[in-house]
Amino acid sequence: MSQKTVMDSFRLEGRRVLVTGGSKGLGRVIAGALAEAGADVAVVSRTLSECQAAAQEIAAATGRKTAAFAADVTQAAEVERLAAEVEETFGPIDILVNNAGINVRGASHELAESDWDAVININLKAPFLCARIFGPRMGARGWGRVLNMGSILSVIALPGRAPYASAKAGLLNLTRVLALEWAGQGVTVNALCPGPFATEMNLPLLNDPEKYSAFVAKIPMGRWGELHEVAGAAVFLASDAASFVTGSALFIDGGWTAQ
Ligand SMILES: NC(=O)c1ccc[n+]([C@@H]2O[C@H](COP(=O)([O-])OP(=O)(O)OC[C@H]3O[C@@H](n4cnc5c(N)ncnc54)[C@H](OP(=O)(O)O)[C@@H]3O)[C@@H](O)[C@H]2O)c1
Repeated sequence: MSQKTVMDSFRLEGRRVLVTGGSKGLGRVIAGALAEAGADVAVVSRTLSECQAAAQEIAAATGRKTAAFAADVTQAAEVERLAAEVEETFGPIDILVNNAGINVRGASHELAESDWDAVININLKAPFLCARIFGPRMGARGWGRVLNMGSILSVIALPGRAPYASAKAGLLNLTRVLALEWAGQGVTVNALCPGPFATEMNLPLLNDPEKYSAFVAKIPMGRWGELHEVAGAAVFLASDAASFVTGSALFIDGGWTAQ
């Protein structure tokens, strides 16, 4: 029996990926990295023009087939429409990256109900809605990957992060439940859990030198993550190299959660 070399097992040729929130930030880096590893990549967010720009850049840089779709993935009907459109125009999805997310920070007693709902809906409900559509289709084909973007706040707490930390902790257990449900069908489900990275979501921290340094002080490696530092972990979990890894969380946090 011919055996793939270990480096071959990281390659993603012949796989189709869908990255929610792939237009910018960590999702954009992951979309580009999976394309570099050989996959064709569909980018989704609510802003079609930004998805188109990201898809074009990734295609130009990697030579892979890319596509752009607009959808609000917090709405079940939108996710169903998206799945139908993606399958028809791009093809069946092998790797789903549930990356789209937002944060609303503030003391619990000052947050509005709408803040809670918005953060829970995109960080927890949307991965459920997308996984329950794409996961079984992967299972029917006998191979699939679901990557959920958790956070260090999946396992630690910070004041002022009630909805976000609750959503990300819930997402970790959703990851485990789905991993168990699909373990017999070749579909693995894992979480990536980053520490702080310089994206739009973190502008309130990046623009405040005191808050920025307070975060650095908590990180044993003494710095924020660099965007490219999520890429290798995403390629690993998306690939055959991680064929026996499911229900796990991979922390990319400079040691924050090791303490
Ligand atoms: N940055 C960090 O330090 C960090 C740390 C730990 C975990 N994470 C997680 O990593 C993921 C990406 O974060 P990021 O910092 O890269 O964020 P970002 O740069 O703010 O990008 C967020 C992406 O999500 C999309 N999005 C938001 N709401 C959406 C919706 N309802 N439907 C579809 N797309 C939606 C945005 O596009 P539109 O607004 O155009 O829809 C955008 O593409 C998130 O899940 C976040 O919680 C980030």
